[in-house]
Amino acid sequence: MNQKTTILVVDDDMAHRTMLKALVSGWGYEIIEADDGSTAIEAVKERLFDLIIMDIRMVRISGIEALTQIKALNSAIPVIIMTAYSSVETAVKALREGAYDYLTKPLDFDKLKITIERAMEHIQLKVENRLLKESLGHYLNRQNIIGKSAGMKYLLETVARVAPSEASVIIYGESGTGKELIAGALHYNSHRNKGPFVKINCAAITETLLESELFGHEKGAFTGADRRKEGRFVQAHHGTLFLDEVSEMPLTMQAKLLRVLQEREVVRVGGEKVVSVDVRVLAATNKDLMEMIEKGVFREDLYYRLNVVNLHIPPLKDRADDIPLLAEHFLEIFKVRNNREIKGFSPSAMENLMHSEWPGNVRELMNTIERGVILARSEYLDIEDFQMTPKFIDEVVHAPISAENGVTEEILPLEEVERQSILKTLDFTQGNKSEAARKLGITRKTLLKKLKNYGVA
Ligand SMILES: Nc1ncnc2c1ncn2[C@@H]1O[C@H](COP(=O)(O)OP(=O)(O)OP(=O)(O)O)[C@@H](O)[C@H]1O
Ligand SMILES: [Mg+2]
Repeated sequence: MNQKTTILVVDDDMAHRTMLKALVSGWGYEIIEADDGSTAIEAVKERLFDLIIMDIRMVRISGIEALTQIKALNSAIPVIIMTAYSSVETAVKALREGAYDYLTKPLDFDKLKITIERAMEHIQLKVENRLLKESLGHYLNRQNIIGKSAGMKYLLETVARVAPSEASVIIYGESGTGKELIAGALHYNSHRNKGPFVKINCAAITETLLESELFGHEKGAFTGADRRKEGRFVQAHHGTLFLDEVSEMPLTMQAKLLRVLQEREVVRVGGEKVVSVDVRVLAATNKDLMEMIEKGVFREDLYYRLNVVNLHIPPLKDRADDIPLLAEHFLEIFKVRNNREIKGFSPSAMENLMHSEWPGNVRELMNTIERGVILARSEYLDIEDFQMTPKFIDEVVHAPISAENGVTEEILPLEEVERQSILKTLDFTQGNKSEAARKLGITRKTLLKKLKNYGVA
């Protein structure tokens, strides 16, 4: 996959263009040439450039005219204008039209190099700022992942190993377990971290809209498409695209997505032009995709394309060890936000937090702590502050087979212990076989074989 910064050099003076190409490609950039303004505009329609360096005085169409049209097509690409010493006024006009900077001819090569580097930094800052703005509603720095339970440790170790690779990843987890947080961690710990992290929720929009959101559309592609729009794939160029709730994608869209992943190219809705994209794809789901494949509602070929690696985020109730840490972490955040002097949790409050079911997982815990901070009556948060009903510890033993009942109950043949353990686990996962296999630490195939032996499946 191409990681190089691609620069379009536009100059109708062939000798100058060739010289620039040799020089700038020597600095490690990939150069595409255009011999005049209209060729440049066509090139911008066809592929994504990170930067454009353009002469302002060209014969067929002026640099200013080309600049205006390029900006209308894609306002994000920085354009550096080259101008003769005598025409600084035109350069100022170019800046007003949205050029990033201008350089006078004959070019000062050091200055050119620095201007290119600065333009690239500028782009990164813009991307980061946008991300920062997007995450303002999220209270947390995306990489601030709390967890010391065995399950989370294993998960975070895997994240650290997988992040720098180009591998597609499917993240499994119940709602509110931190799927988006993990997706962000994969992106920010990869070499794509200077590029954009773009997400799309496949469940939130209709099929037609989803297609144009993902791939973009041409002007006039459908009623209301009054101008060309780039899709999320193009927005995520050189970065990561996060497909949230991927299981909700309709089958026809799945086929289209698969094609894009294979070809690394998108075609805008209502258009024919092919745009190459360099994107790493991450997906998240709280459904069992294997089961959906069996039912014929999820494409197996797409699954294998996405599922180079899969990560499972354990539900919060399976990692009670993490609850005090998370609770403290959220307390710190919300007490500052709400300007409240709170020292901590009463022992019974903490006990309750640790033994609740948390169907909404970490998000629910976070909301509970926020409510507690707002309603707090004293320096220590108490059960009433959370508006929780007291729970007793013995209400919530889930372990399929625990050491205690192994000792107190009658001794069973190993095979029977295994059978009971499997059936209890299946009961616990509400019949979800893939999840049961995972919890039992065996493959799904082994599980199916054993079930067949028991006469269950
Ligand atoms: N381990 C963690 N440490 C700190 N914060 C966490 C952790 N896990 C989740 N959170 C926080 O909990 C909230 C929910 O996480 P996130 O949105 O990533 O979950 P999700 O699995 O994508 O949820 P949904 O299925 O509802 O989309 C976020 O504010 C996130 O920052
Ligand atoms: Mg989410």
